[in-house]
Amino acid sequence: MLITQMTEREVPAVARLEGQIFSAPWSEQGFSDTLAMENVLFLVAKDGEEVCGYCGVYLAADEGEITNVAVARPYRRRGIAERLVRALIEKTASYGIQNYILEVRISNDAAIKLYEKIGFKRCAVRRGFYEKPREDACVMHYHVDDTPVISTVRQD
Ligand SMILES: CC(C)(COP(=O)(O)OP(=O)(O)OC[C@H]1O[C@@H](n2cnc3c(N)ncnc32)[C@H](O)[C@@H]1OP(=O)(O)O)[C@@H](O)C(=O)NCCC(=O)NCCS
Repeated sequence: MLITQMTEREVPAVARLEGQIFSAPWSEQGFSDTLAMENVLFLVAKDGEEVCGYCGVYLAADEGEITNVAVARPYRRRGIAERLVRALIEKTASYGIQNYILEVRISNDAAIKLYEKIGFKRCAVRRGFYEKPREDACVMHYHVDDTPVISTVRQD
């Protein structure tokens, strides 16, 4: 399993996965437009040529907003999302990002447990944040401390 920076090459496979997993998925164009921005980092996990997971973050000042985190169903519970998010933090913390924030559906126990394992704390609830179905968001925050994270991302 290799974790690398997402490029245009992976966008069709990532958008396909996104469409299978989320009720309001980003489009292929949406991923392409986002990748073209300067203040983002998106990572993919690949098993050979197959994209099996991805995640991304928008960077502003010292804060990173984590957007999409997803792993293809057959690849779940193998530590891929944990490696992806830790790699995203490791890489962007080296750019000076100190704080990470994300929203997650309040009923999404798997994702909340994932983020808590990494060190995120629940900090707020956004009422009715999600559509399809309408649901509250749990806002979670992580502050970079001195704890070393395991290096998982290839330096390109
Ligand atoms: C949430 C998701 C990304 C987790 O991916 P994953 O690769 O299976 O997660 P990992 O194997 O890295 O799990 C890491 C930790 O997360 C937690 N976790 C992950 N899936 C879990 C589940 N189904 N139930 C309970 N805890 C879970 C556990 O603490 C796990 O650590 P452990 O294996 O030592 O117990 C995946 O289930 C997914 O793609 N879900 C649909 C998309 C989604 O909800 N994305 C998040 C949007 S905010």
